[in-house]
Amino acid sequence: MHIGHIRLANRLFAAPMAGVTDRPFRQLCKRLGAGYAVSEMVTSQRDLWNSLKTSRRANHDGEAAPIAVQIAGTDALMMAEAAAYNIDRGAQIIDINMGCPAKKVCNKWAGSALMQDEPLALAIVEAVVAACAPHNVPVTLKMRTGWCDAERNAVRIARAAESAGVAMVAVHGRTREQGYRGLAEYDTVAAVKAALSIPVVANGDIDSPEKARAVLAATGADAIMIGRAAQGRPWIFREIAHFLATGEHLPAPEVTQAKAWLLEHLDDHYGLYGRDDAGSGVRSARKHIGWAVRALPGGEEFRARMNRLESCETQVRAVTDWFDELADRHHLLPTSSSAAANDSSIEDALNEEIA
Ligand SMILES: Cc1cc2nc3c(=O)[nH]c(=O)nc-3n(C[C@H](O)[C@H](O)[C@H](O)COP(=O)(O)O)c2cc1C
Repeated sequence: MHIGHIRLANRLFAAPMAGVTDRPFRQLCKRLGAGYAVSEMVTSQRDLWNSLKTSRRANHDGEAAPIAVQIAGTDALMMAEAAAYNIDRGAQIIDINMGCPAKKVCNKWAGSALMQDEPLALAIVEAVVAACAPHNVPVTLKMRTGWCDAERNAVRIARAAESAGVAMVAVHGRTREQGYRGLAEYDTVAAVKAALSIPVVANGDIDSPEKARAVLAATGADAIMIGRAAQGRPWIFREIAHFLATGEHLPAPEVTQAKAWLLEHLDDHYGLYGRDDAGSGVRSARKHIGWAVRALPGGEEFRARMNRLESCETQVRAVTDWFDELADRHHLLPTSSSAAANDSSIEDALNEEIA
């Protein structure tokens, strides 16, 4: 699997998720079997580039290559500048966001809303490709199946993007109008794959090794991209890799192993967001811990208690003690989580992230 001249370790991708796929989480996914992980979206709005949020998003310290940064915006020139800015900061691949349903980026409709305005979408693609070409940086596109049920224009946009020089297209099998409701469909993803000669990535509702195999077969896609099912369960990538290679399931991780991965993740997370009690590290870590325990026995009760802890030290202590008690009762993780947040909470959280 290649993106332009860049060879990937495998065809299992971590999806970009604002507020989730920061550098520590991407690193963890890559360590646990993802061949590729895209950053959270970085705004094309120049006056926000020095904000703490954007500079954290542009932090790639120690990140395993290839470093892929997603940019979001509505103006072709600003998007081209954002691409150049991120290449200066280490991006080796630039991804254009035409998939996110959040209402506003840069105070304008962006993300998947661009699919409603094909000339603008294409102008953005052309400008970004032109900005990246001198640096030999491939450009990719993340899109939905269309704006709404009656207007599924993914194939048209993907074809135009390929002609403009895009090196790979990822398609989430929902329309913009659907948000995260209903089920992802893969026929449109298959149609995009059939229409293009660049790699196509299938995305949406892939939450198990069986589903991964079925989506690859149904779409003919070159790779699959996983978002929500990796929350709290980043080892899903190696589970899928093993299943695709052997047709057999890996056993669930040992409880002590899951604890070690979570503690390493927390340490990396605090390193990026701050370890002091006033810092945001302890607060932003809560969601990752919550996802890690939500499907485990007693997980909901622990999550409620853990959410009231205000320092990194007490958070680490609580996580350690909780997993140690779990390990006394279970050798392997007793259940695996694929529970996803409900649709409206995702969109609310996204709008907050982007604001
Ligand atoms: C919390 C959250 C944040 C997201 N942020 C982005 C984003 O910044 N850019 C983007 O292209 N898609 C974003 N998405 C969409 C995902 O990349 C993915 O397309 C979607 O979740 C469907 O895949 P899944 O069913 O495997 O989760 C986000 C999704 C979630 C749940």
